[in-house]
Amino acid sequence: MRQEGIYIVAMVACLVAFGCTSKEAAPAEPKEEPAKAEPEAAPSEPVAAKDPAVEAQEIFQARCLTCHGATGKGDGPGSAALNPKPRNYTSAEWQKSVTDEHLKQIIVEGGGAVGLSPLMPPNPDLVDKPQVVDALVAVIRNFGNQK
Ligand code: HEC
Repeated sequence: MRQEGIYIVAMVACLVAFGCTSKEAAPAEPKEEPAKAEPEAAPSEPVAAKDPAVEAQEIFQARCLTCHGATGKGDGPGSAALNPKPRNYTSAEWQKSVTDEHLKQIIVEGGGAVGLSPLMPPNPDLVDKPQVVDALVAVIRNFGNQK
């Protein structure tokens, strides 16, 4: 009986000792985790990669066409009631008179922000999408190249 008691004490001591050594060994494992995280970054990229040119076309059809018109002449169905009228993008003189920076600003911040009619609405959701704004500028410049 006494011997069994000693055995149990020895086993408990052994377990505690073991527990301690395995805890010391543990920190070595998490160090490997940052390496595992790297491959995860790659699959997340294609999710955001919608072609900005396609998105710009969709936005133009959905938001700008009502006022600016399908041909960019400022004669969309919603333009009749507007004064001043939306810009005629096909005017070569107008195209020359405005910089890309100005176009980007009016698209994102609206007419009111650049001293033009506040009826030209801002598009604040495009602040984080500079590539889509660039593509919208290209859409507007393209109207100027059509005769
Ligand atoms: C509710 C009607 C309306 C909508 C919708 C609209 N615009 Fe306009 N836009 C105007 C009006 C009106 C003007 C003319 C402002 C002025 O001359 O004071 C204008 C002017 C502009 C100009 C010319 C600025 C200048 O300096 O000559 C650009 C570029 C433009 N809009 C881009 C866009 C784009 C891109 C969209 C869609 C994302 C859009 N607009 C949507 C009404 C609208």
